[in-house]
Amino acid sequence: MNLFYKLKAVKIQKEACDAVNVAVEIPTELKDKFRFKQGQYLNFRIMINGNEERRSYSICNAPSEKSDHLEVVVKRLEGGKVSTYFHQHLHQGECLEVMPPMGNFNTIYHPTNTKTYVGLAAGSGLSPVLSNIKEALYQEPHSKAYLFYSNRSMEYILKKKELDQLEVYFKERLKVIYMFSRQRHEDPIFEGRISVEKLEQLFKRYSEIGISDATYFICGPSDMIKLVSNYLKNEKKVPAIQVLSEYFLPPDAENTETMSEAFKAIANVESMVTLIIDDDEYSFHLNSKKESILDKALQEKLPVPFACKGGVCCTCKAQIMEGEVFMEKNFALTEEEVQRGYVLTCQCHPTTNVLMLNYDI
Ligand code: FES
Repeated sequence: MNLFYKLKAVKIQKEACDAVNVAVEIPTELKDKFRFKQGQYLNFRIMINGNEERRSYSICNAPSEKSDHLEVVVKRLEGGKVSTYFHQHLHQGECLEVMPPMGNFNTIYHPTNTKTYVGLAAGSGLSPVLSNIKEALYQEPHSKAYLFYSNRSMEYILKKKELDQLEVYFKERLKVIYMFSRQRHEDPIFEGRISVEKLEQLFKRYSEIGISDATYFICGPSDMIKLVSNYLKNEKKVPAIQVLSEYFLPPDAENTETMSEAFKAIANVESMVTLIIDDDEYSFHLNSKKESILDKALQEKLPVPFACKGGVCCTCKAQIMEGEVFMEKNFALTEEEVQRGYVLTCQCHPTTNVLMLNYDI
């Protein structure tokens, strides 16, 4: 399985005060492999001091922009190995190892639609939300969009120039509303983070948004995503299909190394696990209470795809062909995918004596 391809970093640009914009070039022969949908992300593999590090970054482009480059924004994290590499060591012309685009954070657009899209983005959560909002506006000339974007202050706002240009280009159809957590605003409604309480106020102010008819794209801190998604679905009765979210990390309460009660409760089963990878079959024994299927496959040095190992990116996705699993966390697969037998192998443990999973999907 050729998971990674070498792509040249053709543009490295400082973006706001704590981020860098990196564009990788897609050569003609890889155009098909790197065809992407709005809201998808790229996995990067970087060797740092002899250790392999993998990180996912969302694509900021929209497919309709038809660029030869794919751009991601990398925010500098205190002590972050990969973000420090991107900020301090990456140089123009360097080849990066990148997996083809992945991810489900998107919906289908149609030129006859007359819809309202609402982006709720915080910090670097802007990238996949922006990609979706742009694609909606390019593909649906009768639709409009509101982008609520929160950050510390104006100097931290990512893609400000592009957002300004988009507001002009899409004239009456795009409204970008900035919110600041550490900058005063003459109108207090624009101070603070995106929260349930804040949305209550904003929906009153922007009453033209038909709350239950709109489609929402939410990305930012995990707890914000969880609370806001639940609020829209449960209190505002927005159909679940119209509330799309993208996690970068699991919500705090679920970001734990300790075994969940549900995992403790599964039966102790010895399983023969078979994985189909690039049309080849690999088998190993695994006890249901031991490591995840992905971890075991990596110990066996099998060429399985992965990135976050936390149930958020869906890089390790496979489909069950036979048997059953217990899946600890899932912040990436849709309900429909789960019903069709897709699983996140980094979160899975076999619960039947025989299990067969297919990565070639
Ligand atoms: S590796 Fe990211 S969800 Fe499994």
